[in-house]
Amino acid sequence: MPDAHETNTIPIDCTINGERVAMDVNPSWRLLDLLRDHLGLTGAKEGCGEGECGACTVRIDGLPANSCLVLAAQAHGCNVETVESLDPESLGHLHECGTTQCGACTPGVVITADWIRNNPDSLEHGSIRSLMAGNLCRCTGYDGIIDGVRASIDAGASKGNRS
Ligand code: FES
Ligand code: FES
Repeated sequence: MPDAHETNTIPIDCTINGERVAMDVNPSWRLLDLLRDHLGLTGAKEGCGEGECGACTVRIDGLPANSCLVLAAQAHGCNVETVESLDPESLGHLHECGTTQCGACTPGVVITADWIRNNPDSLEHGSIRSLMAGNLCRCTGYDGIIDGVRASIDAGASKGNRS
């Protein structure tokens, strides 16, 4: 006989990477679980699982968020973007600056970096380093990441594409 908790589900209707997703979710699922285990979007990684490392970063309604701290049910009505939705060009300058080694942090770094690149006004509220503070990297140090984000912002500016 199924456990009562297993039969309780919550309907959600949201947009993930531009596609409508309407389905029933278990109340205990985190957004990270929904993405990785039920939708096959494995770009966001689980590091700490408690909101400290940023490996699970996605964008919800345009803003970077830790998907390990968000329940899947809370995605109802939201627009969720994962690293799979990004133009590979978003990674280009980070890669050139040597910011990827093991890659565990990379999807979260790219999501946040791409957000800064597309929202240069955010730099009025903090440096690139401070805006990236929620994305921890145990391999590379942070100078390359900062340089990569700065290069991608400069490249966007030179193309007149800073919006
Ligand atoms: S896995 Fe979500 S912040 Fe570390
Ligand atoms: S490249 Fe390994 S944690 Fe950042």
